[in-house]
Amino acid sequence: MEDVPTRSQAMGQLTWTVAGSQVLGLAVIAITGVWMGHYRGGISWSGMQQFNVHPLCMVIGMVFLYGDAVLVHRVFRNETKRITKILHGVIHCMAFIIAIVGLVAVFEFHRKSNITDMYSLHSWCGIATFALFFIQWILGFSFFLFPGVTFSLRSSYKPLHGFFGIALFALSIGTCLLGILEKIFFSIPMTNTGYEPERVLANVLGLLLVAFGISVGYIVTKEEWRRQPLPEEQALSMDFKTLTEGDSPSDS
Ligand code: HEM
Repeated sequence: MEDVPTRSQAMGQLTWTVAGSQVLGLAVIAITGVWMGHYRGGISWSGMQQFNVHPLCMVIGMVFLYGDAVLVHRVFRNETKRITKILHGVIHCMAFIIAIVGLVAVFEFHRKSNITDMYSLHSWCGIATFALFFIQWILGFSFFLFPGVTFSLRSSYKPLHGFFGIALFALSIGTCLLGILEKIFFSIPMTNTGYEPERVLANVLGLLLVAFGISVGYIVTKEEWRRQPLPEEQALSMDFKTLTEGDSPSDS
């Protein structure tokens, strides 16, 4: 007979997997920092170093914080739905602001250095990802945090929000890989060996980004780890359905 993990075993596995994902996410930020700080002259809002703000902010905002915002509903499973929704929104808001700083840095750097804008596949994917992220944020806010939206409207939008949340996260990681590839070609001269430490570091960064993406994707798509509504929330959601749609709780 197949061994089904008990609830406490399942929660233990969730804790370890989340911890692993955080180690990967923090390693992504640390390696980007080392790449830009040690090999590319550091981080500053002026000169050549202004570009370096871009990768660092993009991995913090569009990858690490975005991933953690997605994980909120799995990690804080004993908090009320309202708290997890607010936390999810706040982390996304931080991700959004940090991503804007990263984008302004690269556009300003291009303007000051007379470099054409938006010529690469990376920049096209980047703008598309950011624009879709913004739309997803506005729709999520309007449907889930704005009072007055009916129960059925929320329920029908929820699967779309979940699907696009994961799709955009994957797009974000793909965009970072394209950006890393471009930076490697622009900045690291090819030697005979091809194994210069900076190139190896950048390749490792790419692999870690993929590993972080897979770990977050695994956690959010695993059925047993889905957050179950607390008993009082079930009662509240019945009341909300009745209030917004007028039918009696016994009808559903
Ligand atoms: C989801 C994350 C990212 C987004 C949304 C994004 C977006 C963009 C955009 C829109 C530009 C064009 C700026 C302009 O035309 O003036 C750009 C440029 C650039 N980005 Fe990123 N980026 C991301 C992550 C990264 C990362 C991790 C790197 C790694 C080093 C990187 C490297 C570059 C490079 C080298 C350029 C200049 C060349 C070009 O315009 O394609 N980006 N990025």
